[in-house]
Amino acid sequence: MPNLLFASPANWEEYRDVLPGALKAAGIGAQIFTLENPPEPDQVDYLIYAPSSPLQDFTPFTRAKAVLSLWAGVERIVGNATLTQPLCRMVDPWLTEGMVEWVVGHTLRHHLGMDRHIVNPGHVWDPTCPPLARDRRVAVLGLGALGLACARALQGLNFAVSGWSRTAKDIPGLPTSHGADGLRATLAAAEIVVLLLPRTPETENTLDAAALAAMPKGAVILNPGRGALIDDAALLAALDAGQIGHATLDVFRVEPLPKDHPFWSHPGVTVTPHIAADTRPASAARVLVENIRRGEAGEPLLNLVDRARGY
Ligand code: NDP
Ligand code: OXD
Repeated sequence: MPNLLFASPANWEEYRDVLPGALKAAGIGAQIFTLENPPEPDQVDYLIYAPSSPLQDFTPFTRAKAVLSLWAGVERIVGNATLTQPLCRMVDPWLTEGMVEWVVGHTLRHHLGMDRHIVNPGHVWDPTCPPLARDRRVAVLGLGALGLACARALQGLNFAVSGWSRTAKDIPGLPTSHGADGLRATLAAAEIVVLLLPRTPETENTLDAAALAAMPKGAVILNPGRGALIDDAALLAALDAGQIGHATLDVFRVEPLPKDHPFWSHPGVTVTPHIAADTRPASAARVLVENIRRGEAGEPLLNLVDRARGY
């Protein structure tokens, strides 16, 4: 019977009921411990983990077969030198569903120009009709679990979607590019750009001044990826110059976004407080349990993080 250490006190309340149920449904008899009542570290088989955990030294967990992250993004864990055990990130179907809803909702806001009608103090009767989605070019940067799902959902509404990733892809019906040249061409053709890249040394400032300048004038940015993907100062300058029409940002270099950060008051910025997509305990518990099942059966774990790549 494997021993699980649920090492994220902030999340225990929401998992204490669903995790035993998911284990039972999978036919896995396991003993669950928390940090309040932990077993000897060398008796732990799996750790369920989030970066906010007080546990930061993985050295004593000599028997652990995996550290299972409750988060999709692992930039705060992946560099931990004491973490030598396999690390699995969260790929949760309901988290993905939430991200698709956020991206589609904010894309439609800008595509349809909803703000002109929601905030219209002058009661201006402007019957200009927006183009159809088929004539709106959207680029999704990052074609992983989340980016690809968003790209497909936008295509389902007929948006003219293209994608960009680190490695070359052959995805039926989706034009894609990769690498630095691919990025420039993809940005140059996009009126709305969605950032769903992980934070790694390579993705830092993907949207720098040069990249922002490569976009069509008035383009819109949606960033539910990570704050560090954008050079904040360059974005503010591009917004002030009208080069970028609007930025809807869910993630920031410092969170919560400091009260005096210019993003809060800039008319060209919409701030959402890192709520684009949450890990949903009911579905995430099934994902955690499937990896425990695999670990016990000696099968390959799902969603393994590549330490060298950083995601
Ligand atoms: P995945 O690991 O599945 O996908 C990452 C994608 O980014 C891959 O397509 C990868 O390319 C691409 N990529 C990585 N590095 C580069 C690079 N240097 N250049 C170009 N492309 C690159 O991640 P997910 O889709 O699951 O999640 C993406 C991110 O979303 C997370 O890392 C997290 O930061 C963020 N997130 C935000 C949430 C929120 O609420 N705001 C919630 C959950 C996640 P390739 O396919 O070639 O490997
Ligand atoms: C995540 C997030 O990485 O919520 O899971 O940002």
